[in-house]
Parts: sequence; C-alpha cells; structure tokens
Amino acid sequence: MKTALISGITGQDGSYLAEFLLSKGYNVHGIIRRSSSFNTGRIDHIYSDPHEQRVPLTLHYGDLTDSMGLATLIQRIKPDEVYNLGAQSHVAVSFDMPEYTADSVAMGALRLLEAIRWADQPVKFYQAGSSEMFGKVWEVPQRETTKFYPRSPYAVAKVFAHDMTVQYREAHDIFACNGILFNHESPRRGATFVTRKVTRGIAQILAGEMHKLYMGNLDAKRDWGYAKEYVQAMWTMLQQDCPDDYVIATGEMHSVRELIEYAFGVVGLDPDQYVEIDPRYFRPTEVDQLLGDATKARERMGWEPKVGFEELVRIMLAHDLREHGVDLSPWPDLDAVPPDAPAFPQVAALVGEGV
Ligand code: NAP
Ligand code: GDD
Repeated sequence: MKTALISGITGQDGSYLAEFLLSKGYNVHGIIRRSSSFNTGRIDHIYSDPHEQRVPLTLHYGDLTDSMGLATLIQRIKPDEVYNLGAQSHVAVSFDMPEYTADSVAMGALRLLEAIRWADQPVKFYQAGSSEMFGKVWEVPQRETTKFYPRSPYAVAKVFAHDMTVQYREAHDIFACNGILFNHESPRRGATFVTRKVTRGIAQILAGEMHKLYMGNLDAKRDWGYAKEYVQAMWTMLQQDCPDDYVIATGEMHSVRELIEYAFGVVGLDPDQYVEIDPRYFRPTEVDQLLGDATKARERMGWEPKVGFEELVRIMLAHDLREHGVDLSPWPDLDAVPPDAPAFPQVAALVGEGV
C-alpha cells in the first residue's frame, strides 16, 4: 500500500485528491491547520474516527510556515508521494498579504523540498503550480515553454516554487513535478472565487437571501475546468517514468461576463437586474486572459478534460441551488445533475451509507 502526504487537504483540490488516492488504495495523510473553528468541512465525509480504522486517512496538525513540523512529519510518515497543495491561494488577498502569501506559497514549497531532500527514502513531489504564473501572457495559448510574467504576489511566489521544484529535481535528483494548472472549479470551490461567487449568488437570489451581486472586472477571461478531473492529472504526473512539468487546462476560454450571462440564463434570470460592479473587487494588476494548451499532458499521460464550461456551471449551480433549498423542478437539466459527494465510487464503498 502506497502512502501519500497532502498539504492543503482541507481545500477544494485536497479533498478531491484525498478521495482519489483512497480509491486507488493509498494510505492518505493530510496536514491541517489549527483553527478556532472547523476547517474540515470538505473532508468530513471521508474521515472516520481513528479508533474505528475504517478509512486509511490520518490528519496531522501542521503549517507550511513551520519547517521543523514539516520535516518531522515526513520523517515519521515516510510518504512515497507528497502533494503540495497548501497555499494562501486567493490572488486578490495576496495584494493585502504579500509576505504571508510568499511565506506559505514560495517558502512552503522550499521547506517541503528540503525535508524531502533529507528524507531516509525517495519521496516523489508534486507542486501545485498555477496558470497565474503566465500573468500578462507572452503568447496564446500558454504551454510549458511559455515564459512567465507574474502579476501578483501570489503569482510571483508560485514562480519561485516552480523554479525551486525544477532546481531540486536537477540538483538533488528528486522526482519532482510541476503541474501548471489553469483555473479549476467545483461545488467545493471557495465561495470568494468568481465561479462559485456567481453560482452561489444566483442560489441566494432565488432563495430570497440576496438582491444584488457585486462583482469586479467582467472582462477578465479564464480557462475553467472541473477540479475532480484535475486532481487525477496530479497523480498521473507522479506515475510517469520521468519527472516533468505539465500544463493542465481545457483549451476553452470565457470571460467573467460570459460566465454570468450563461449561469443566470440557465435559471431564466436577467443578470442586468442583479449584477452591479464594485471597484473594490478590481485588482491593482490584473491577468486579462488565460488559455491553456494541454497537448503535452494528453500525448504523454493520456490526460484529457471531459467536463466543459457549460456543464461545469450547471454542476455548480445545481449544488448551490440544492444547498439553499431552491426547488430544482423548473429546470430539469439541473435537477438531473447528481449530487457532488462522494466523488469516487470506491470511496463511497469505504465510507458506507450516509455520505
Ligand atoms: P484552496 O481551496 O484555497 O485550499 C488551500 C489549502 O491550503 C487549504 O487546505 C488551506 O487550509 C491550506 N493552507 C493555506 N495556508 C496554509 C498554510 N500556511 N499551511 C498549510 N496549509 C495551508 O485551494 P485549491 O483551489 O484547492 O488549490 C490547491 C492548490 O492549487 C493551491 O496551492 C493553489 O494555489 C493551487 N492552484 C489552484 C488552482 C485552482 O484553480 N483551484 C489553479 C492553479 C493552482 P484551510 O482550509 O485551513 O484554509
Ligand atoms: N474573486 C473574484 N471576485 N474575481 C472576480 C470578481 C469577483 O467579484 N469579479 C471579477 N473577477 C475576476 C478576477 O479579477 C479574475 O480576473 C477572474 O475573475 C478570476 O478570479 P478568481 O476566481 O478569484 O481566480 P483567479 O484566476 O484570480 O485565481 C484562481 O485561479 C488561479 C489559476 O489561474 C485561484 O484559484 C488561484 O489560486 C489559481 O492559481
């Protein structure tokens, strides 16, 4: 049985990756941060009391800013694979908290790489890189060879982590891979990222809880994919013969305005009546457009996205409408979307009924 350690297991990707690795028979360990309120909502359904030993999932307190803690965890757990998904991952927030963002994103990756370098056994490493590194893009679409032009403290920190991952691969012969993932979303997406803000906002409007949705730059364009498919690419990278870097993307680009128009249209609402612009959401430097070319991932690893933009929006809308108690029967298309959890059938079997 292989053992994996995930930083950021409580986040969107961490929760899907944990489910995916459990479905592959892994012994999964995750790092969680101490918090005064519960932060395990995305993994509660797969966690079982350690005394019962139903699911091979163990959680450890830790933080990417704490070198000694990370090194100790790697010494104790002896993972075969480490997935570094932990991060202050909100681009807008990174302008307000540049130092903390760099500490968790850039230095966090370095701390894990150092711990792996001195581990007693070989450890494979996955670094959660971002299309934000392309920033003010040099070419369209962006691929592995496209030069970076980061436009936020978050993106600068991710470039450091990317370069450091290559550095440790070349200098210390570590099986270390960078996934350069374009935006990926799901019903588990944080509520302040634009897709979820829109689908949740629509649910709140329909539930009578909100009357206006305040948004930022509607002209920004992104390549949005489905998170559940993207975590499979992370694992696949670490199963290749040689470590390498891969762009993971859909190759489809839409503006925030198109997102809003499509999502409101699905439930028959006119966005002009509900959406207002609040300049507070504008960023000091913006990334105008991102469009990925995942040809290398397709040719080398056989990875391809299946869920497109419209299906993704419907999956998220259906979830948010249900969560806000909105009756879906007027929209049979949404009503037919299955609930989000459990993500992988084998995990459903592990955790049993009532997930
Ligand atoms: P997310 O939902 O924001 O999750 C981030 C995770 O990192 C959470 O588990 C969070 O813990 C944890 N974390 C934050 N600061 C930490 C620290 N100092 N020490 C340890 N853990 C910390 O992000 P995501 O969307 O799942 O993304 C996963 C990774 O992929 C991130 O590194 C992100 O930057 C990167 N990425 C994401 C996308 C995307 O579109 N989603 C695209 C490219 C790259 P709490 O739950 O306690 O806050
Ligand atoms: N969050 C947010 N809120 N974004 C808005 C809003 C709003 O009200 N209005 C417009 N936008 C625009 C942002 O300015 C940005 O251009 C775009 O919508 C997407 O914003 P986010 O959903 O916050 O994502 P992001 O692209 O900045 O960053 C996400 O994707 C990166 C990969 O490209 C994050 O998940 C990063 O962690 C990830 O690396």
